[in-house]
Amino acid sequence: MKHVFPTYNRFPIDLVKGSGTIVTDADGQTYLDFTSGIAVCNLGHCPENVSEAIQLQLANIWHTSNLYECALQDNVAELITAGEEKLVFFCNSGTEANEAALKLARKHTGKEKIITFEKSFHGRTFGSMSATGQAKIHQGFGGLVPGFTYVPYNNIEAFRAEIDENTAAVMLEVIQGEGGVIPANAAWLLEVQMLCKKVGALLIIDEVQTGLGRTGALYGFEQIGLDPDIFTLAKGLGNGLPIGAMVGKSSLSSAFGPGSHGSTFGGNKIALAAAKEILLTMKQAGFLEEVNAKADYFRNLLEEHFETLDNVSAIRGAGFLVGIELESAAEPVVTELRERGLLILTAGPNVLRILPPLTVSYEEMDQAVTLLKSVLESQLIGSEEG
Ligand SMILES: Cc1ncc(COP(=O)(O)O)c(C=O)c1O
Repeated sequence: MKHVFPTYNRFPIDLVKGSGTIVTDADGQTYLDFTSGIAVCNLGHCPENVSEAIQLQLANIWHTSNLYECALQDNVAELITAGEEKLVFFCNSGTEANEAALKLARKHTGKEKIITFEKSFHGRTFGSMSATGQAKIHQGFGGLVPGFTYVPYNNIEAFRAEIDENTAAVMLEVIQGEGGVIPANAAWLLEVQMLCKKVGALLIIDEVQTGLGRTGALYGFEQIGLDPDIFTLAKGLGNGLPIGAMVGKSSLSSAFGPGSHGSTFGGNKIALAAAKEILLTMKQAGFLEEVNAKADYFRNLLEEHFETLDNVSAIRGAGFLVGIELESAAEPVVTELRERGLLILTAGPNVLRILPPLTVSYEEMDQAVTLLKSVLESQLIGSEEG
């Protein structure tokens, strides 16, 4: 690509068609997509019902601005909040949802200090980047937004030492996705929540990667029984159309009154038509049960085949957010798998990140594990010979 900033190291294929788990490149080569466009296409590529809903909306009206009532926004917000005393702010991406969360937390509490965690990832705009606990993401961009402090994840002593009455909010992922597929310890999370309540800090959960069925629940925090003051969504909410959402307790509403925050495109009708259909699909009886049954099958297969392999040091994650930590570099495995027709990702230098669509079939999971096994075994033999 000659005319685009090289902000990404791109794989040398151009995917031009997708259906379910299968994607096809410009040369007609097909692949099993176990990336879901980085945890986005949770219902697979081009799901028919979502496609129809988008097309119907395209024929009616695309955009009206947020200066007018929008029943569709209210419908989708109601589906997201599911009868709880919560309100939604719509935007276009994960980083924007997190920006909204950070702004709301500061405005509501009147405090500035925000605690986040080492290896976290919250986005690339200045606020979300400042929230991200990774020096490599900050490098070269000058002064960050002041007030952020980073503590080790899953470490209650370090957290207890940092949180105080000046803390506006604590922001975390229940599984650190980009940071290496690192799940939070449930007892640690519950204690973090308790300490937040004690000092009057808001608990913000970034569900951008874990949300929308990815971990086997609609939101990852539900599996731990957390009650966040604010949570954020994006990725799977539009299955590929750009949308983000910041969801906060109704008691925070006075801090986000008219003129306090906004977005021209946020809550646009095309993305919302998709989100409505996606949420209705995920809320259908049995949908998440089936996701969990399939994810258990996949996890068992992975453990059966890989736990004893010499170059695998851990298998982590929940639902269809799976990390396989290797003793060696992950990139060569991803490259060889791509050449053999399976797309997966890395999360850091030595972790394979596997994110199939929630609609993946048992046969596709078997195929993927067979490919993964042959590549991991051949690399193991290669390293022994080397
Ligand atoms: C946990 C988390 N938060 C925020 C973001 C940023 O989302 P976006 O790229 O839509 O701005 C990501 C993206 O990978 C993410 O994984």
